[in-house]
Formats: sequence, structure tokens, C-alpha cells
Amino acid sequence: MAEQTIVSSGKPLVRFESVSKRFGTHVAVENFTLDIRRNEFFALLGPSGCGKTTLLRLLAGFETPDEGRILLDGEDIGALPPYLRPVNMMFQSYALFPHLSVAGNVAFGLKQEALPREERKQRVAEMLAMMRMDEFADRKPHQLSGGQRQRVALARALVKRPKVFLLDEPLAALDKKLRTQTQLELRELQKKLGVTFVIVTHDQEEAMTMADRIAVMNGGRLAQVAAPREIYEHPKSRWVAEFVGDVNLIEGVVSAVDAQETVVETAAAGQMRVPQGNAAHRGDRVLVAIRPEKVAIAREGASAHGGNSVSGILRDIEYFGGSSVYKVKLDGPGSMRISSVNVSRKGETVASKGERVTLSWSADAAAVLAQ
Ligand SMILES: Nc1ncnc2c1ncn2[C@@H]1O[C@H](COP(=O)(O)OP(=O)(O)OP(=O)(O)O)[C@@H](O)[C@H]1O
Ligand SMILES: [Mg+2]
Repeated sequence: MAEQTIVSSGKPLVRFESVSKRFGTHVAVENFTLDIRRNEFFALLGPSGCGKTTLLRLLAGFETPDEGRILLDGEDIGALPPYLRPVNMMFQSYALFPHLSVAGNVAFGLKQEALPREERKQRVAEMLAMMRMDEFADRKPHQLSGGQRQRVALARALVKRPKVFLLDEPLAALDKKLRTQTQLELRELQKKLGVTFVIVTHDQEEAMTMADRIAVMNGGRLAQVAAPREIYEHPKSRWVAEFVGDVNLIEGVVSAVDAQETVVETAAAGQMRVPQGNAAHRGDRVLVAIRPEKVAIAREGASAHGGNSVSGILRDIEYFGGSSVYKVKLDGPGSMRISSVNVSRKGETVASKGERVTLSWSADAAAVLAQ
């Protein structure tokens, strides 16, 4: 008997296949191809106007692609109107019905489904309990806090048990603390329900903490799709490296490439060695990318660690509570930003403004990007 290999769900739940969408002459989504897996918590991340909402509206059926197809479970859903798609969308400005109670709002989603009254009541109760809103069932929206209204909107959409749940900036109206808490709750809820979530955000930290995978969009196009760590540690382009997190970019020319490393000659930091894993060739003009937290800073003369080091003058220190960012003018052209955790509470810094410092980092802290 032939040996059997079980491949975990090869077929994606959602597939965008070369999808384009124009509004007049404006191209909102351009030749977009992307797979979203079953039970995935997927985030669309990108600057304002890059086409995130348009992509969700295409999937929900509120817009029609000019080119390409959208498949759900392998079936082209192009001909299905929104209400027949097993997809539910929570809009950027979710609006609760002000005249209905919390329970009434949640039940509303089920009314069109002609469920028996008892079942409807039971599902509403279940959903409210899950969102910890059961004790507020009889309140009206204006008697709730922002975070509570948020949870009612989620309950109203999820009570319909969609296969795919689309959330457009669901947490934008919440303060930072409530936002962080709701992020965790949403993730737990998603795992518990086993529904595929696609969330739109322009907040990179939010995408990083919540998502299994992130698609970074730029001007209607897919810039990169990968797990959060991969996007942060191995951005595919300068644009992704700069959009996701803070990064130092140092210009240079590749002088040697072997199986282990790429050597880049830079005016700012001399010769830099970067581990292999890029497509650069000898003579290419490239950028060496280093995240600020991967660089160590010390007074000049203190022992440096790791294969690369460069000297300069400490120009500025920005205090962020848990960490500080040091801005260093290099002896060569340019400057670098270094972030360092504030371990001590006494406020001493590694060096003072105006002092000479040495920056150092290990070879694997850096990556090569095309210029
Ligand atoms: N109905 C429409 N008619 C004309 N242009 C539109 C329409 N909807 C969207 N656009 C344009 O398409 C582009 C993408 O819009 P979209 O709403 O998808 O952006 P977004 O990524 O969701 O941005 P934001 O983060 O600001 O919500 C924008 O330039 C927008 O002005
Ligand atoms: Mg939007």
C-alpha cells in the first residue's frame, strides 16, 4: 500500500487571483494575488489609501473586481451577492442601532435568517456571554462605554457564524490600554470560534501582536506576505523595512559575495559583513538594514562586541520610559538610531550628548536590501 502523507489543509480558504479594481482612473487594487488559510488570523497592513478597505469590500461582495477572481473554498464567488456569501464584515465605522438594546442589536443579524425564536434567543445569549456582555443585555448603546459598544458590534457580526470575518480597523476608536486588551480578547475569540479572521489595520504593532500572517500593501499592490517575525527580520524591500518598524539604512556597494556572507563597502561605516541570504551580486548598489535594537552603544574605548563597529558622536537621546533612542552622528556621512532598554531607574545613560561613542553589532543583525 502506498504510504500516505497528510498535508495540513493545502487548499486556501480565500484566494485572490490577479484581482484589480479601479475607481474611474484611480487604481485602488492592482493585480493582487493572495491566499488566506483556513482558521488563520490574517492582517492587512498598509498606509491610508493603499486599498485595504477595497480589498475587504471585494471579498464581502460590495465591490466587483475589474479583473481577476475571488475564490472561497475553491469556488469562484464572483456571482454571489453579499448576503449569500459566508462572509461577514464589521465596518470601519461600525454603527449600532441606537433604539435597540444590546440583545436587540445582536439578534438583528439573525432576523433575516428566519431561525426559530428559541434558537435565536439561545444564540444571542451564548454570544453575549462569550463577549462578557450578558449583564448589559437590556442597555441601549448610549449607556455603554466605547469598549463595550465595540464588543456588541463584534457580537452582532459573529452571531451569524460566518466562515470568514472581516474587520476593518475594529479597534481604532479605543484608547491604548483597552485596545491592547481587546487585541488579546479578539485573538482568543478567533481561536475559540475557529473562524478565519481578516483584520485591516494601519497600526503595525497591532498587526504584529494579533496576526498569524500579515500582508503588507503599498499603493494597491502586495508588498510582502509572511509571518510577523519574518516581515520584521527579513523585509523584502526598503519600503517594507521602513514601513514596519524603525530601521537604519546604510548605502554601499557589494565588494564580495561568498557562500557565507556578503561584504558591502560603505562610506558611513566602512566595510560591513552581512550573512548570506540575499540576491546581491558584486558591484550592486545596496542598502544594509539594521534595526535600532540590534545595535549596542558604548563610550568609545569600551570593548565592542560582534563583527561590525563604527564610531561617532552622540547627538541626542529620546526617552520613551521603557527604552531610550540614541541618535549618533557617524564619523562618515549619515547617522544611526540605537534603541536601548532602560534597565536602571536612576536615569543614567550609556553616554552623554557630545561624547564619542562606538556602535557595534553582530553580523547576523544586518540584512542587505536593493536600493
Ligand atoms: N467608491 C470609491 N470611489 C472612488 N475612489 C475610491 C472609492 N473607494 C475607494 N476609493 C479610493 O481608492 C483608494 C483605496 O481606498 P481604500 O478605502 O481601500 O483605502 P484604505 O487602505 O482602506 O485606507 P484607510 O486606511 O484610510 O482606510 C483610495 O485612494 C480611495 O480614495
Ligand atoms: Mg479603510
